[in-house]
Amino acid sequence: MAEKILVIGAGQMGAGIAQTAIVSGFTVYLTDALVSQRERGQQGIETRLSRLMDKGKITAEEKNHALDQLIVIDSLRGVSQVDLVIEAVVEQESVKRELFRDADQWFGAETIFASNTSSIAVTRLASATHRPERFIGMHFMNPVPVMTLVEVIRGALTSPETVAEVLSIARAMGKTPVESEDYPGFIANRILMPMINEAIFALQEGVGTKEGIDTVMRLGMNHPMGPLTLADFIGLDTCLYIMEVLYQGFGDSKYRPAPLLRKMVDAGLLGRKSGRGFYSYS
Ligand code: CAA
Ligand code: NAD
Repeated sequence: MAEKILVIGAGQMGAGIAQTAIVSGFTVYLTDALVSQRERGQQGIETRLSRLMDKGKITAEEKNHALDQLIVIDSLRGVSQVDLVIEAVVEQESVKRELFRDADQWFGAETIFASNTSSIAVTRLASATHRPERFIGMHFMNPVPVMTLVEVIRGALTSPETVAEVLSIARAMGKTPVESEDYPGFIANRILMPMINEAIFALQEGVGTKEGIDTVMRLGMNHPMGPLTLADFIGLDTCLYIMEVLYQGFGDSKYRPAPLLRKMVDAGLLGRKSGRGFYSYS
């Protein structure tokens, strides 16, 4: 059974994955290209574990033990051997491919590579490495410590052993894995993201206000967050990248990103992580 995990990318997903893994007893190496993000990621984990302790959900001992399992490193050169690499960097294929190409030269052939990509073809990402049979999609949901689903995406050449190992790691992290075939957006974002995109079209066309659109979906459909609030929560850049993958992958105009979404990303209005999206965050 896997013991050591390297998480690359310490943004909201990478930090959440790292937190979940250390609490579940894994040793986690966490890295990010930006020192500010490494610090922010580590700080966020410490704050959230302290909050869980204050609420009586974990003991001080459990918190300290979990934090002892977290090792923040400057680059993947800071670790020589791990059982699993989970990549959680920006949703751009060229960036992910470059990173996997580099990691492929650094880690032994047994190490499993998993991408937390929301939508990009796992088979294509795997082709950047010499280990397509040890390559898989491991799609956690945001916020990772709270959401129990992990979509597990088998690339064209992923071995059954790799799938079995990753299913068991996901369960050891307290998650419920669901397998998906490798098509654009997999299951989750094939269904979720067109709904969010449609909500942005509705706002753009003035069908309702942002509050009206969100309230309809919250009170009318019992969604915990309205689609525009959820888009801010996910990150508008990530939403746009996912829509572009769906649009290119299926070649169907029903997946075209709403122009308002593109305009907001161009303006740097990325949602919660930048302080402003459809709503403002202090
Ligand atoms: N990180 C860790 N924990 C968090 C958190 C975060 N960012 N935000 C909230 N929580 C925790 C809180 O600490 C609280 O924990 P306890 O129950 O232990 O006290 C719990 O979540 C509930 O939080 P709140 O009471 O503050 O707020 P809430 O009841 O409104 O729930 C929510 C917050 C869980 C985020 C809820 O609004 C929700 O489920 N929203 C929808 C989330 C969703 O749809 N996620 C999927 C996004 S799509 C995706 O992930 C895939 C992709 O590729 C884009
Ligand atoms: P984010 O913007 O919060 O974090 C991305 C991090 O990657 C940043 O800290 C950035 O500095 C780092 N990074 C970029 N290039 C790097 C590189 N070459 N090497 C190391 N670090 C690098 O984004 P996020 O929301 O955490 O999303 C990360 C991944 O998870 C994306 O693929 C996204 O599609 C996926 N995902 C996101 C959500 C969500 O709701 N936001 C849910 C599931 C999956």
